Amino acid sequence: MKQLVLVTGGTGYIGSHTAVELQQSGYDVVIVDNLSNSNIEVLDGIEKITGIRPAFEQFDLCDTDKVTSFFKSYSGLQAIIHFAAFKAVGESVEKPLMYYRNNLVSLMNLLQHMDQYQVPHLVFSSSCTVYGQPEELPVTEKAPILPAESPYGNTKQISEEIIRDTLKARPNLHSIALRYFNPIGAHPSALIGELPRGIPNNLVPFVTQTAAGLREELKVFGNDYPTPDGSAIRDYINVVDLARAHVVAIEHMLNNKQHRNFEFFNLGTGKGTSVLEIVKTFEKVTGVPLKYRIVGRRSGDIIQVWADTRLANEELGWKAERSLEETLLSAWNWEKHLRNITD
Ligand code: NAD
Ligand code: WQD
Repeated sequence: MKQLVLVTGGTGYIGSHTAVELQQSGYDVVIVDNLSNSNIEVLDGIEKITGIRPAFEQFDLCDTDKVTSFFKSYSGLQAIIHFAAFKAVGESVEKPLMYYRNNLVSLMNLLQHMDQYQVPHLVFSSSCTVYGQPEELPVTEKAPILPAESPYGNTKQISEEIIRDTLKARPNLHSIALRYFNPIGAHPSALIGELPRGIPNNLVPFVTQTAAGLREELKVFGNDYPTPDGSAIRDYINVVDLARAHVVAIEHMLNNKQHRNFEFFNLGTGKGTSVLEIVKTFEKVTGVPLKYRIVGRRSGDIIQVWADTRLANEELGWKAERSLEETLLSAWNWEKHLRNITD
């Protein structure tokens, strides 16, 4: 019999790609999402790619009664991948309580029900933001957690602490926190991808929207950083590679391969890329010239970060495989699909 995995936030960007990888690896998937930052049509994309429409329940994970009814009706759950959260750094500064409530209450509701309904395994979406600007690069999982720059970042730090303390008290529960670096790109089918609301804050959606003519120009935030070309450096990881890591993490737990009942892994490529390198690579692979202008630094930005991925390579047997070139091309193909752009 197929094993059943709950994917919270499964109609969102990373969750939808993970639902595809899970189904293609033989798992049954049930998605819970309140559609606060995604569309129901995403289910059509998942179905077109895999031939299977995942089960879907629309409700807010902060609603404890609804969570209880859900756990009562899905008794065969083996594991949970918890993506559902608010994620806009700037908005979290404006509306901190909304972020703390949504991101923490949803997690606590899940943990409480996992214990009550004997669903032992949880994969949690964490972020490299917990490291702030690390002193040593590449950054390992042993690097200190620095005070968060934003309420959003703080919700990730506090969530990891909530999981750690809960699992200390409940050794029957198991969890893996995956610390994502910068997820970009879309499924190669261009049937699912990122759907930013309004003006994108993140670099790659801004790049593709500029290339599509929705934005006049890309503003490159700073060229006076102490980096080879002066622009800031990040570790950009393909969303399908990232999604695959979740399947591997589930298997790691289901096959009892954990050394401790709470483990953390960096998910990146291990390679840093500057903003200007992103611009040049995008232009090269798409043939589309990108209008951009250098402006001042964005407040709160770190200079550079990239992952030491050895732990995930060695313990999970996972490694990012897709190149930056194919990843940026997939982001562009998705943007063209959204805007009905033909060559
Ligand atoms: P997303 O916004 O596309 O997906 C999140 C989904 O969760 C959305 O579909 C939203 O409708 C849903 N959701 C939010 N609150 C909910 C609630 N209370 N109840 C039910 N559904 C709810 O975001 P994403 O980029 O796919 O990110 C997924 C996870 O990964 C988040 O936890 C995010 O913080 C984390 N993360 C993302 C990035 C990134 O750059 N995208 C980087 C690091 C970590
Ligand atoms: C990347 C680089 C910008 C837009 C954020 C969150 C982090 C994580 C991932 C969830 C930076 C530059 C950007 C633009 C630019 N999310 N840039 N012009 O800031 O590394 O991380 O998303 O956990 O928590 O903070 O990603 O894509 O916003 O920026 O020059 O219009 O691109 O300054 O150097 P970031 P990003």
